[in-house]
Amino acid sequence: MSNNNQTASAGFTHEKVETSNFLMIVLILLVIAIGGLTEIVPLFFQKSTTEAVTGVKPYSALQLMGRDVYIREGCYNCHSQMIRPFRAETLRYGHYSVAGEFVYDHPFQWGSKRTGPDLQRVGGKYSDEWHRIHLNNPRDVVPESNMPAYPWLEKNAIDPADVAPRMKALRTVGVPYTDEQIAGSAAEVKGKTEIDALVAYLQVMGRALK
Ligand code: HEC
Repeated sequence: MSNNNQTASAGFTHEKVETSNFLMIVLILLVIAIGGLTEIVPLFFQKSTTEAVTGVKPYSALQLMGRDVYIREGCYNCHSQMIRPFRAETLRYGHYSVAGEFVYDHPFQWGSKRTGPDLQRVGGKYSDEWHRIHLNNPRDVVPESNMPAYPWLEKNAIDPADVAPRMKALRTVGVPYTDEQIAGSAAEVKGKTEIDALVAYLQVMGRALK
């Protein structure tokens, strides 16, 4: 009690904070901001979150177009790309996900809904041919599947002129594409269809940490 009285006479009391909505809101925001910053800011400087895991490379032109098909078709609505560090997860899917695997993903495709299995380590699990049949009609290889069919992917051609601007955009956010890679991108996807691109993307997923 006597302590309280002392601070009260100093002019700044707890009561003042508790009875002023404005002061209370400002101070709460200040506390949250400091707490948030101390958690978030270090992530921008830690090697484990800013540097690619050995073996993780920026997507090739074809893989990149495949990733964009993945996003356009909304595959992330049913598939996560985030293996949690629990035994049940690692037994089923393989090594848990680490931040350094996603440094070239803008935006990352972690997802949050698993109607289908996690796809983080699907690369190399099936043949290209399996993926083609599966994407065309999942029921042809997994009879009980409720995944939608994507028969248009093998008919849609990739526009070679589409790739370079996407790679340049990614370069501005830190993906280290070289001028040669960007210049050669059109030739890499020439004559390819969307299903070629999507399969190329699926096959590279999670390969760095098998
Ligand atoms: C409506 C939910 C849904 C959507 C959307 C969806 N899937 Fe699936 N997916 C599933 C289900 C359920 C399975 C498990 C049955 C099967 O293998 O077909 C599955 C399985 C898979 C598998 C096999 C995974 C494994 O480890 O066996 C791959 C690869 C896959 N999906 C890729 C895709 C891609 C690429 C897209 C987008 C073009 C997509 N899925 C969209 C529900 C979905």
